[in-house]
Amino acid sequence: MNHPSHAHALAADAAPTAPLDVPASAEMLERLERRRSPPLRGLVEPGPTEDELRRLLALASRVPDHGRLCPWRFVVVAGVARQSLGERLDALYARQNPQVPPAKGGMWTQYLLRAPVTVVLVSRPDLTAKVPEWNQVLSAGAAGMALTVGAAAMGFATQWLLKWPGRDPEAAALLGVGAGERIAGFIHIGRPTRITEDRPRPALDDVVSFWTPDQSMSNDTP
Ligand SMILES: Cc1cc2nc3c(=O)[nH]c(=O)nc-3n(C[C@H](O)[C@H](O)[C@H](O)COP(=O)(O)O)c2cc1C
Repeated sequence: MNHPSHAHALAADAAPTAPLDVPASAEMLERLERRRSPPLRGLVEPGPTEDELRRLLALASRVPDHGRLCPWRFVVVAGVARQSLGERLDALYARQNPQVPPAKGGMWTQYLLRAPVTVVLVSRPDLTAKVPEWNQVLSAGAAGMALTVGAAAMGFATQWLLKWPGRDPEAAALLGVGAGERIAGFIHIGRPTRITEDRPRPALDDVVSFWTPDQSMSNDTP
């Protein structure tokens, strides 16, 4: 038992007894408490640089993911690609909605040109995996929130929208989003032009309860 390799194994297996001294990050807390999504028209250049975007997407990939399935992926729409995608979406929209008069400059082109960068968040649950689909879909939502929070940490603001291009299968196909995949959001990223007034937040009493035994809805034993 006194052999050094045994001592090492014991130390690694021993249950930790004292908490690590991880200091609270006042800066991070304050940023999170003030984070708000400005309207899309309030997101302007400069968008994230290539390095910033890579870092942001790496942050967005650090999310709880049951079974390590990566049940999500990101499609970046930036620079001139915004115009090209917008024009294709406008053409598709016109074909699907011939009764709607075309907007000047193209409704979806204008939409995509507003923010410097848009990250399309795609949910792609693996239905053959043992991990429930719900767990996988929630992981995609977590990736969107991690991207949102990460962008705020970098000094950007975001607006997460899910409009027609995110719901229509033909529009999704233009983004390379195929069968078994579903768009979870267009997360538009840019610099905020001003501090957006906060919206009403839920009263904690409306959304938080502490469980007590009399709240149980069933008498079943586990
Ligand atoms: C999946 C998802 C889709 C959304 N789609 C829309 C949308 O199409 N239109 C809209 O006005 N808001 C939409 N929202 C809400 C916006 O993101 C809204 O700006 C946000 O709730 C503002 O909250 P915040 O200030 O806490 O970020 C969506 C939110 C989520 C999570």
